[in-house]
Amino acid sequence: MLVLAGGFCVSANAREPVRTRHAMVGTQEPLAADVGVQVLKDGGNAVDAAIAVGFALAVTHPYAGNLGGGGFMLIRFADGRSTFIDFRERAPAKASRNMYLDASGEPTRDSLDGWRSAGVPGTVRGFELAHRKYGSRKWADLVGPAIDLAERGFPVSYALAESLKSARNLSQDPESKRIFQKNGAYFAPGDTFIQPELARTLHRIAQNGVNEFYEGETAQKLAEAMARKGGLITLSDLKDYAAVERAPLTGSYHGYGIVAAPPPSSGGIGILQMLGMLDGSGYQKSGFGSAAEIEYVAEVMRRYYADRSQYLGDPDFGKLRLTSLLDPAYIKRRRDSIDPNRATPSTQILPGLPAARDGGETTHYNVVDAQGNAVAVTYTLNEGYGNGITVPGLGFLLNDEMDDFASKPGSPNAFGLIQGELNAIQPGKRPLSSMTPTILTRDGKFFMAVGAPGGSRIISAVLQVILNVVDFGMNAQDAVDAPRIHHQWQPDKLYLEPGISPDTIALLKSRGYDVDHSPGLVLARVEAIISKGGWLEGGSDGRASGKAAGY
Ligand code: DON
Repeated sequence: MLVLAGGFCVSANAREPVRTRHAMVGTQEPLAADVGVQVLKDGGNAVDAAIAVGFALAVTHPYAGNLGGGGFMLIRFADGRSTFIDFRERAPAKASRNMYLDASGEPTRDSLDGWRSAGVPGTVRGFELAHRKYGSRKWADLVGPAIDLAERGFPVSYALAESLKSARNLSQDPESKRIFQKNGAYFAPGDTFIQPELARTLHRIAQNGVNEFYEGETAQKLAEAMARKGGLITLSDLKDYAAVERAPLTGSYHGYGIVAAPPPSSGGIGILQMLGMLDGSGYQKSGFGSAAEIEYVAEVMRRYYADRSQYLGDPDFGKLRLTSLLDPAYIKRRRDSIDPNRATPSTQILPGLPAARDGGETTHYNVVDAQGNAVAVTYTLNEGYGNGITVPGLGFLLNDEMDDFASKPGSPNAFGLIQGELNAIQPGKRPLSSMTPTILTRDGKFFMAVGAPGGSRIISAVLQVILNVVDFGMNAQDAVDAPRIHHQWQPDKLYLEPGISPDTIALLKSRGYDVDHSPGLVLARVEAIISKGGWLEGGSDGRASGKAAGY
C-alpha cells in the first residue's frame, strides 16, 4: 500500500468506504446492520440502535453475538459526556482459584470446554442499563427485530454456512447440534435458519424485561440445567449479577481526543500507553509499512504487553496502578528504552513499574446517530460459539469466558499470554479482557469509533487502525484493510500479515526479530466509522463479512 502526501491512499485492492450523511452502523453481520439503521431512521438514538443491533446479532451471528456472554459498551454523547457500560461476565460464587488445575497443578481445558467454563452472562443486564439510562425507544421495540429474525428465520449466508461447518464445539452438544445443523447435515448458503426456542426467550425478555433473564423462567431453566450438568451458575449468581457504569479513560494524541475502555478491559490502558510512547517519537516519518516504522510500533507493543501481564485485572477486586501506568514520565522512560535499529529481546523488558488468556471469537460494532452520539460495542462468548453449549429450551449459547482468567498466574496460557495475580479466579470477579472499544474526538466533536474481535490482537489492531487514520491519512476502509503486525511481548515473536513486503520482512529479521508470517495469518477484524467533512465514512474489515450502512 502506497500513501501519497495528501493523505490519498492507493492500493491495488483498495475499496471505497461507505459514505453517508447523517448516521451509520458498522457490524460484522449485514442483517444486524440493517436493523440498526432502521432504528436510527425511526428516530431512535445511537444507544437504542446499539441495543437492537446487539439483540439481532445474538440471532444472526451466533458465533459471537449473544445473550449468554458479555462485553463492553463505550458511549460518547454529542454534548461531550462519555460513559462505559461494563457487562463483562463474572465468576460464579462457587468458582475458586485452582478450579481448572489438574492433580499436578497444571491448567486443563476445563476453562474452555463444558458447563463449568461459563461465567455469569452480562449482556442482557448491560443492554437494560444502557436502555434505562440513555435509551429513548421502548425496550420491546428494540428486541422486536431480533424476535422476527429468530421466528421467521433468515437466509444463511456463505460466511455463516462455512462458520457453522467448521465449529467443532457445536456438534459435541446435542442441543446445539439439533439447532445449528439440519437433521445432522450442515446448513447450506440460502437455507432458511429458524430458531424457535431463541425467539421464545427473546419474546419473554421483550415482554417481562431484564428480570426475565436473571430471575424469571429463563433464569430458572438456566440454573436447573447448570445443576443437572455439573455447571456452577446458580439462581443467586444470576440475581446478583449487576452491570457497572465506569468512567472511560481519556487522553490525547496528535490533536485528537481519545475516549478509551477502562479495566476490566486491558485495552484502553494499552491504547493510551502505546500512543503515549509513539507521541513525539517521529516514528511515522519512516513511512507506512517500512521496516523502521514496523519496528518502532512493535517495540511499543512489546512494552505495553509486558505491563499487561502483571498490572491489570478487575478494578473491583484489587487496586490497579492506573495513574502510574499512564504517568507521562513512566511512558517516556519506556520509550527511551527503544533502540530504533534493533529488536529488544523480551527477556530484557519486564513489566516496568517501579516495583491473559485470550482466544476464540468476539464481535465489534459501532453506531453513530444524526445528533453525533457515538456508541462502540465489543461483546463476546469468548471462543467462536462460546463453549458450544445451548441451554436446553432456551436457544442461546453459553460463553467460555472463565478462560480469560489466569488459571495459573504467571504461566503462559494456550495463546502465550502471561497474566498475573490480579487476574486469578475469585468468586464474583470479572476476568481481564482485551476488548477495546475506542472513540476519538476532534475539536470536541465525534471523530472516530473503532474496535475489533481478535483476542490479544485486538489492542494492537485498534492501535494500528488509529495510526493509519491519524498519522498516515488513510480513509476508514483502507485503514481497516491495511496489513497489520502484532507483538505481545511473550512469546517474543513479531507476527506479520500477508501483504508486508518480503524485503521488509528480510530487514526486520536482520534487526533481530523472530518473524512469524504464516500464510493466512489474520490479526483481528476491525470496524471503524470516521466523521470527515460532513460525511460519515465506514470501513468494515475485508477480513470479515460485515457491512457499514446508514443514511
Ligand atoms: O475478552 C477478551 O479479551 C476475549 N474473551 C476476547 C476473545 C476474542 O476477541 C476472540 N476473537 N477472536
